[in-house]
Amino acid sequence: MSKIPVVLSSELLEGRTLARKAEGQALLLTRVGGCVYAVENRCPHMGLPLTRGKLDGKVVRCPWHGSRFDLSTGESLGWADSFAGVALPRWSHGLLAAGRKARALQAFPCAEEDERVWLELPDAGQHKAPNVR
Ligand code: FES
Repeated sequence: MSKIPVVLSSELLEGRTLARKAEGQALLLTRVGGCVYAVENRCPHMGLPLTRGKLDGKVVRCPWHGSRFDLSTGESLGWADSFAGVALPRWSHGLLAAGRKARALQAFPCAEEDERVWLELPDAGQHKAPNVR
């Protein structure tokens, strides 16, 4: 694993999400309670982006079918139970899951240093600060 800069600290606002790509990996970055978090920006349910997901503290809800994930660990906290923000009856959740079982998001270790957010990505090569505007 190598540490690479992905965004300026000043760009990552409290309670907001930011989509970035690094080493071909789509990332969702957030800042909650002053701490920064980074997870894959691809919902494990159907592979759709979490960019417009709703934040509730450290939990992001997928905007498509409502799966919920802990941003600090990637843990799955709830699986497909709604459509575009509208709750669906319990009997339909299995149909919506379409045979896919709940799975965690990949969470990446990250930290702030030199006014940048740095991530540790598997198999990342050598990188210099110019990756960040
Ligand atoms: S794509 Fe995220 S819950 Fe379906």
